[in-house]
Amino acid sequence: EKIYIGVDVGGTTIKVGICDAEGHLLHTFEGPTGTGKGTDVILHNIANYAREIVKESPFEWEQVEGVGVGIAGFLDIPRGFVKFSANLYIENTDLRGFLEQELQKPIKVNNDANVAALGEAWAGAGKGIDNCVCYTLGTGVGGGIIIGGRIVEGFASMAGELGHAAIVPDLEAIQCGCGKMGCLETVSSATGIIRMAKDAVERGDRTTLSSLEVITAKDVVDAAKVGDEVAARIVSRAAFYLGKSMATLAILLNPQYFIIGGGVSKAGDFLFDQIREVFEKYTLEQAKEGVKIVPATLGNNAGIVGAAGLILRG
Ligand code: BGC
Ligand code: NA
Ligand code: ZN
Repeated sequence: EKIYIGVDVGGTTIKVGICDAEGHLLHTFEGPTGTGKGTDVILHNIANYAREIVKESPFEWEQVEGVGVGIAGFLDIPRGFVKFSANLYIENTDLRGFLEQELQKPIKVNNDANVAALGEAWAGAGKGIDNCVCYTLGTGVGGGIIIGGRIVEGFASMAGELGHAAIVPDLEAIQCGCGKMGCLETVSSATGIIRMAKDAVERGDRTTLSSLEVITAKDVVDAAKVGDEVAARIVSRAAFYLGKSMATLAILLNPQYFIIGGGVSKAGDFLFDQIREVFEKYTLEQAKEGVKIVPATLGNNAGIVGAAGLILRG
């Protein structure tokens, strides 16, 4: 039996999975990323964990057909290069070259959200759906576009960087981690939600959030759900710009599904219904007919399944 290894390199954890040719997850493994300890540490962790998972599984290294890696940031996908990853502090690194040397297997590298989108389209919420757009709402806002069952990468591997769409009007815009103003990520990521909550507390707005020392995105959603108006406005704002982003993509690409994953998506219908309402309002009738906004179903495993899928389907 042939097996496919998928690696999902996150800011704190590297997750690894072994998949079969149908995208079934057969074995998982995880370890710390080592962010902050330098690029070399992260690179060696990726290689070591890939070897480690096979050792502790019932499979043999000979069965490995290849290793796919999903990593946050701006890449040169055809060359397997990480140009710039703000969350991992990696720059101009030949990730694929390193792993080919270390592991002596075919290696594919792609953006973390592209890979999560591929996972969802292959074996998750978008199974059997050839055209879908996926958002991951976490530290950043990731995006992945699947058309005809394949990841859309674009001219310079930048297609699908949906979190950096300049969508917030100038008067309300703040600077994003990428350096530009008004990116979707500044309002719809967990980080953005937390920042808006902290700003509200600092301004002295009347909110139950002010009693919290460390505010998480979940705190904000929970407070909104039980009627905290300040928290509710923050969640609505996150939903508003997501819905508007989808309305634009509906006419650019006319995907069948919009799939939303990542920690913030756990807010469930409370968030989804608001996004749907905005989408309904702003999207052309003919471009939204039959189109659905659905939660991701692979959860934390979308990245590893999709990364393994790079070997088979990429
Ligand atoms: C990065 C993307 C990444 C996303 C989710 C964004 O800030 O620019 O490359 O996919 O965060 O990790
Ligand atoms: Na992407
Ligand atoms: Zn940005």
